Amino acid sequence: MTVNYDQIAVRYDAHRPSGSDLCFDRLAEALAGARRMLEIGAGTGNTTRFMSRSVDALLVAMEPSAGMAAQARAKSAGGEWVRGAAPGLPFGDASFDAVYSSYVLQHVGEPSALFEACARVLRPGGVTAHITVPPSYIANHPLNQYFPSFAAIDLSRFLPAEALSAAMEEAGFREVRWEVEREKPKVLDRAYLARVESKFLSTFDMMSPDEYETGLARFRQDVEAGGGSTEHVVIREAVLIQARHTEA
Ligand SMILES: C[S@@+](CC[C@H](N)C(=O)[O-])C[C@H]1O[C@@H](n2cnc3c(N)ncnc32)[C@H](O)[C@@H]1O
Repeated sequence: MTVNYDQIAVRYDAHRPSGSDLCFDRLAEALAGARRMLEIGAGTGNTTRFMSRSVDALLVAMEPSAGMAAQARAKSAGGEWVRGAAPGLPFGDASFDAVYSSYVLQHVGEPSALFEACARVLRPGGVTAHITVPPSYIANHPLNQYFPSFAAIDLSRFLPAEALSAAMEEAGFREVRWEVEREKPKVLDRAYLARVESKFLSTFDMMSPDEYETGLARFRQDVEAGGGSTEHVVIREAVLIQARHTEA
């Protein structure tokens, strides 16, 4: 099942951090020195806004959903916006010093075509860097107790860093490295319930409506029985994987 980001766009930012987030500082470091950079799947512009203020470069933000891009425009996220979906990158060869994304690789499918496209639009020596979710976070997520297909859905689309690294190397990237960042543990409480009620993860749009409603009802019941919180704890994790494009 595909996710309709035009429908999600107006609620997307409600339960997401504004400003900095996991791996943003490392991403800005990876992009330092770039004069022209491309963001793939820029969404409502949260990463765009941070990077356009952190890195002194011309930034092109590509996004397939008009609804998501409209939210970005409304908050003046920065960047020059272009409509488009990876792995198609409607730009000339060697036209960027850096190409990055955050939480988009899971929508692009098999990653070889994407990394080959990144290599094509990067000048030799350019950098590609992507923020994504490590499989350990999905496998250990406490929401697995409420939504039986949660892990299966996400483990099939969020690839481990080792697989991404192999695809990057095949596409001609070298010096591949990755780092995981973690937030402090958070209890699954009423505030977290509100995030699930707003379907803050696209995973909820990919499970059956019946599974979503049943899991939500059980989660709500546990929160109420616990006086506003449950015994479950989540430790959010993200991984930044980056590599350099070398001359053939
Ligand atoms: C989870 S959101 C992430 C948005 C933003 N990067 C962020 O971190 O908030 C995924 C975004 O990827 C976009 N997307 C989906 N398929 C894509 C594709 N094939 N190429 C580029 N972007 C895509 C969606 O429209 C959506 O805006």
